[in-house]
Amino acid sequence: MSAKIIDGKAIAQEIRENIKKEVQELKEKYNIVPGLVTILVGEDPASVSYVKGKQKVSQSLGFYSVEEKLPENVSENEILKLIEKYNKDPKIHGILVQLPLPRHINERKIINAIDPKKDVDGFHPINVGKMVIGEPCFLPCTPYGILVLLGKIGCPVEGAEVVVLGRSNIVGKPIANLLMQKRKPVGNATVTVCHTGTKDIVFHTKRADILIIAIGKPKFITADMIKEGAVIIDVGINRIGVTPEGKAILCGDVDFESVKQKAGAITPVPGGVGPMTVTMLMKNTLESAKMWNGLPNEIE
Ligand code: GUN
Repeated sequence: MSAKIIDGKAIAQEIRENIKKEVQELKEKYNIVPGLVTILVGEDPASVSYVKGKQKVSQSLGFYSVEEKLPENVSENEILKLIEKYNKDPKIHGILVQLPLPRHINERKIINAIDPKKDVDGFHPINVGKMVIGEPCFLPCTPYGILVLLGKIGCPVEGAEVVVLGRSNIVGKPIANLLMQKRKPVGNATVTVCHTGTKDIVFHTKRADILIIAIGKPKFITADMIKEGAVIIDVGINRIGVTPEGKAILCGDVDFESVKQKAGAITPVPGGVGPMTVTMLMKNTLESAKMWNGLPNEIE
């Protein structure tokens, strides 16, 4: 049987409609406009495209959007000064520095400079710490999007065997942590994390009820590596070519065509996790705007 295709684009759209309504209400009732600044360093095509997407959605929802583009050779100090400016700017409730940064920039130093109360990416150690101990905070957007997707499709997570491939700070570590927590309605799973030190990856992938892959290897997961009926969450966005019109050809970390014949449900690339990441960034910025204005919110 062919898998259910998890339509991340449609689910993201539905959430964005709700955010848009709330933004209109905030404006009408309190004259509050959520503000987001994106900071992009250099011209990496993937980063340029992600930031463009974030800006487009932010503007479509009625946010106050600021776009900062810095040259590849910018100094660490210049970025720190810019962050300091937006930390102090009352119109800005969310600061996003697109990663990765050029090698001469200390990424940790930059993230640590962002006011944790404007850290809508959930990368600041204060937010990471709060997330791990289960306190309200900004959740990192991709893991947050995966939680929402699993909830929306009614995937049984409690007691499930979840296998995560990849241990990045952005996806692998936080999603593994969130899914093992006693969170409702999505949590309380048994989680295994596989990485470059794992001896037998297939042993683990084959016993996963829910398999989450974030390793950046095109079509790495094939049908023979999964259990019949498993839920497959493909976080990979790999650029494997360019169309004659100059558009990137994308594929995930999963061999979609073969795996969809065996899986119970699967996220496509594009149109799966990607749109959810952008949407949860907007959700975090909206909640931040409410927090900064003393209204009830989900962050504190
Ligand atoms: N690079 C890849 N994913 C992300 C993300 O979610 N946020 C930021 N800031 N950079 C990224």
